[in-house]
Amino acid sequence: MSRVFHPVKTKFGHGRRAPPRSCLLFREFLLSASAVSAQLIARPASRLVGTVRAPGDKSISHRALMFGALALGETTIAGLLQGEDVLSTAAALRALGAQIAREDDVWRVRGFGVGGGFEPGDVLDLGNSGTSARLLAGILASHPFTSFMTGDGSLRGRPMQRIVEPLQRMGARFQSREGGRLPLAIVGTDEMVPIEYTLPVASAQVKSCILLAGLNTAGETTVIEPEATRDHTERMLRHFGADVRVVPVDGGRGKRITVVGWPELKARDIVVPGDPSSAAFVVVAACILPGSDVLVENVGVNPLRAGLYTTLREMGADIVFENERDVGGEPVADLHVRGGGLKGIEVPPERAPSMIDEYPILAVAAAYADGATRMLGLAELRAKESDRLASVAAGLAANGVRHEVGADSLTVYGSAPPAGGGLVATHLDHRIAMSFLVLGLGAKEPVAVDDGSPIATSFPGFVALMNGLGARIEAA
Ligand code: S3P
Repeated sequence: MSRVFHPVKTKFGHGRRAPPRSCLLFREFLLSASAVSAQLIARPASRLVGTVRAPGDKSISHRALMFGALALGETTIAGLLQGEDVLSTAAALRALGAQIAREDDVWRVRGFGVGGGFEPGDVLDLGNSGTSARLLAGILASHPFTSFMTGDGSLRGRPMQRIVEPLQRMGARFQSREGGRLPLAIVGTDEMVPIEYTLPVASAQVKSCILLAGLNTAGETTVIEPEATRDHTERMLRHFGADVRVVPVDGGRGKRITVVGWPELKARDIVVPGDPSSAAFVVVAACILPGSDVLVENVGVNPLRAGLYTTLREMGADIVFENERDVGGEPVADLHVRGGGLKGIEVPPERAPSMIDEYPILAVAAAYADGATRMLGLAELRAKESDRLASVAAGLAANGVRHEVGADSLTVYGSAPPAGGGLVATHLDHRIAMSFLVLGLGAKEPVAVDDGSPIATSFPGFVALMNGLGARIEAA
């Protein structure tokens, strides 16, 4: 099998000079002993055709398990994402006393009720999952015991002060590494005080963390978000019987969300819709390959998650929402995509919360567009599974895509087709891996990623699903 390998620009990218040949050989040796088996390569494909079903929504899957655990009775969940991140949440909830079992495609959760969890017997290892860590912190902090959480190298590097600070105000105590980073010890209390908290960053995880802590707090806990973020927590909490009030602020741009403490959450039957953030990779792959005709079924199109689709349409993409319906309280559609004809646009900063996970794949779409695509308001990308602004820039550079990075902006100059030929460092980031594999489907040369294993955190089966449509992704 031929190897695509640009040692100067790719493996040792980020603008640094190539190391001497002896170093290269040593690194090759190390890689051959470990990571090389996880490398994936995407070869140019002609077009994608067919019908696929989007995997379950990651955000909603986490919440379904957590709220099931906080409810009394048996919650059933259909369509749960069986990705590693969600399995980390399930394991942590089991450690707290929830009974969670899978029967065919249905998951059954017997909860312990609000405030009814037990002290975990060991450190909770949340792998790569920021949503697990931040949301569970709200549950753990409002229990009268001490718990410990850690994660993989990516999660241990992510900022946690953003949840530590409000939870401290409510009465919990923490020991952590600098910046509130994991491993984290949480000294919880069941005598939390309700707060009114304005989010300093647009973050659904921080919002949800505080609302979850507010469930086991007397009185009313309020979160004010100056910019609306995904509202799955509010929707699903109501569905489980909590009293959640939402009032628009700032002319409707933001929200004031109040939860009333000590509700008796009741077990429910949940159907998890497909994940628009995962569907994004399939949709963009179809958009960039002229002649493609793909139907992605069962995609959640909650307006607070659908910013990428608005953006792609503004770029001239042919995406039709078919069979629009409601699934488990969330809007869902089948997305019919026909390839070809993207043009560069400016993506406004206020759209960032509704497509925060989609900028890496948008950068790939932009690499195929006619003209420049300017994306603004991207500061939060630096706090994701990797510093996504840096990871995307390095991946574009490795594949000959001209671009400019600012403190919180990215401009990509499209060319049809981009050069490709690079080996991209994924930094334990599933979305970087999938994005650059998509880039390779239409580039002049194949594109490789150094580690495809993180894809299993959110989209197990990605490679088979893409290849079933006509892609050519394989182990390198
Ligand atoms: C998520 C919120 C977002 C998103 C993440 C999932 C959630 O994170 O990037 O993938 O499920 O609430 P932030 O809250 O950090 O923006």
